[in-house]
Amino acid sequence: MLPLLADLKTTMSLLSERSLILENWMYIAPVILLIATYLYVTENRNHRRRNANNSSKENLTSLAESEYIGEYQEENSPSEEYVSLLENVKHKPFPGAKIVLDGGATRFYEIANDRRSVRKYSRRSVDFSVIEKCIQTAGTGPSGAHTQPWTFCVVGNSEMKQAIREIIENEELENYAKRMSRKWTTDLGPLRTNHIKEYLTDAPYLILVFKKVYGIRTDGQKQQHYYNEISVSIATGILLCALQCAGLNSLISTPLNCGPALRQLLNRPVNEKLLVLLPVGYAADDCEVPDLQRKPLDEIMVKY
Ligand SMILES: Cc1cc2nc3c(=O)[nH]c(=O)nc-3n(C[C@H](O)[C@H](O)[C@H](O)COP(=O)(O)O)c2cc1C
Repeated sequence: MLPLLADLKTTMSLLSERSLILENWMYIAPVILLIATYLYVTENRNHRRRNANNSSKENLTSLAESEYIGEYQEENSPSEEYVSLLENVKHKPFPGAKIVLDGGATRFYEIANDRRSVRKYSRRSVDFSVIEKCIQTAGTGPSGAHTQPWTFCVVGNSEMKQAIREIIENEELENYAKRMSRKWTTDLGPLRTNHIKEYLTDAPYLILVFKKVYGIRTDGQKQQHYYNEISVSIATGILLCALQCAGLNSLISTPLNCGPALRQLLNRPVNEKLLVLLPVGYAADDCEVPDLQRKPLDEIMVKY
């Protein structure tokens, strides 16, 4: 009888305890809420402190966001043994520049200053070996880690030039009508450019300059092409000067939104992207250019 009584007593006291909690819930609930809030705030603060520590460590080793070295960014893989493409390159003495132009820098300035963007060409033929030499000259340009990330496609075939013209004129019609801002087309107005590009079929040659945004190593792995756009732009500048020295005229053109279609037409691989297209040849007899002024030296140079 006695154990039965004890059980009953325990059950009763439990019930009364439960009812105590239920009875006093309005005092207990705020206390629980307070404890939970305190725990949440403390954990949050610790989490932020941990993150701040990590990111300050990262900032010491990573580049600023604006630093641009190319589209494809190679990841370090700890398991791979990486070998530089220039691994076996030896160094040799270099005596400095040996071949100089008569008249030096002044003569070169005169040649460069004589260059104008030509948008109207004669059909007079051009010796292909001269084009080859000018492209060989462009290929002497410096490049990030000597990756030489360029391909110069020369088109002399009439049907192909026509196909290029069609692609570009169709896109340019859209560009001028819809894609370019009114400010942009207004700025271009004095240059008298529009979507009709007769020079694409009149000029004896078109040179399409592609930047290789990454390379492919012999083992099939991608090769980072550091600063590929800057490298190809410099090479293109050298090409412009070489063409000018050879007495040829050209135009840097950037056919907006035509890159993929032109890449496919020329059957170029996916790692190549069109940078610029140059018609090359002799200016037409009735060619005109806008009478533009170049900034004087004291506006473009700062001496320290
Ligand atoms: C990056 C770049 C893009 C250009 N794009 C075009 C273009 O798409 N079409 C065009 O007719 N001219 C183009 N030009 C040529 C400029 O309009 C020309 O260089 C400028 O008006 C100065 O004239 P100049 O080259 O005769 O000194 C481009 C020039 C550069 C440098």
